Amino acid sequence: MPPDTGATPQQPFPSRKTNHWSFNVTRYTGLIDAYRHRLPLPPEAKAISLGEGRTPLIKLDNLVRHVGVDADIYVKFEGANPTGSFKDRGMTMAVTEAVHRGAKAILCASTGNTSAAAAAYAARAGIKSFVLIPEGKIAMGKLAQAVVHGAVIVQVRGNFDDGMRLVKEVSETSPVVLVNSVNPYRLQGQKTAAFEIVEALGEAPDYHCLPVGNAGNITAHWIGYTECAGSGTVSCKLCNGNCQFAQAGGKAKRPKMVGYQAAGSAPFMRGGAVKNPETVATAIRIGDPQSWDPAWIVQKESGGWFDECSDADILATQRLLAEQEGVFCEPASATSLCGALRDLKSGKIPAGSSIVCTLTGNGMKDPDIILKAGLPQLIEVDAVKSAVERVLVDRL
Ligand code: F0G
Repeated sequence: MPPDTGATPQQPFPSRKTNHWSFNVTRYTGLIDAYRHRLPLPPEAKAISLGEGRTPLIKLDNLVRHVGVDADIYVKFEGANPTGSFKDRGMTMAVTEAVHRGAKAILCASTGNTSAAAAAYAARAGIKSFVLIPEGKIAMGKLAQAVVHGAVIVQVRGNFDDGMRLVKEVSETSPVVLVNSVNPYRLQGQKTAAFEIVEALGEAPDYHCLPVGNAGNITAHWIGYTECAGSGTVSCKLCNGNCQFAQAGGKAKRPKMVGYQAAGSAPFMRGGAVKNPETVATAIRIGDPQSWDPAWIVQKESGGWFDECSDADILATQRLLAEQEGVFCEPASATSLCGALRDLKSGKIPAGSSIVCTLTGNGMKDPDIILKAGLPQLIEVDAVKSAVERVLVDRL
């Protein structure tokens, strides 16, 4: 007989709602369920979700030491979303709203991530998706996702901006819902990343840095931070500043929003559309941003700025982050950290600041970009223990 400790005997198996420590476990079911009270959806709208959101907010300790800057830098790793990018946040909202209205098909133009998200959420909803992609510049991983989820893929002889112009025209006359970020529900979903950051840090950071293409995401984050601060922003197309979701008693602090572009594709730096944008960061190879006016409002309201990074610096930052911290993002995503580190070194961002950099997408989207540089660590050996041991001994 075991001694009588007075404890309640343990059940042989935990019940579905409890774990071994007997507290409630709740399955996370995506950002609409988590934030429905802060999203413009009718209560009866059924969420089309893949469990997106709740992405890691990782503090960069090694990298900060290695580079020798003085700041609390966090990366919000949106590449951990179900289809590998922040687009899932917007797509769960856009598709949920479209399906609630009875839509049977969605349409988008994309540099890759939006098409993967649209295809996946359409599959989940049981509706059709049509994606327009630019000629030759789409990462294989993203194309594979569109294929496997059954999207109708249309390759346009032109760039992303051509595709965007076409989907806007076509959606006016065809029974499809446009799910690019000109659809305001996309930004409503994407604003939840700011909610998660404020909840995790207890307040907004001093600076929030993002890569900028169409500038939808920087606008969405500002909407989210503004709501947390108890106010609205005229950059929000849904409410024009009369926000129904402003959090009473919210934290007043809002970050300065900083948007970085690739130098060959930097309309916000040139003061207008760029005709033939070129960059290795294909996700932000966009010359004619769709959220041009809202993004300038964000810049003014937040006191932030736009800047640009060279392709070489973007790729170097992607590698540095992977080597120092074990975080693998796609090139476009590394633009946020690339610019933030430079502005910290120059003093434009003051020492001691808290900074969140959004890493918008997963590095696995395009492994070619890494492998093109060669495989320096690949050592071929005979299939015997001693050969493998020799490799270890020589290098430990
Ligand atoms: N980072 C990644 C990985 C992206 O895929 C995009 C946009 C951005 C940044 C820029 O975000 O447009 O809101 O400023 N990708 C779109 C697409 C264009 O088709 O996947 P933005």
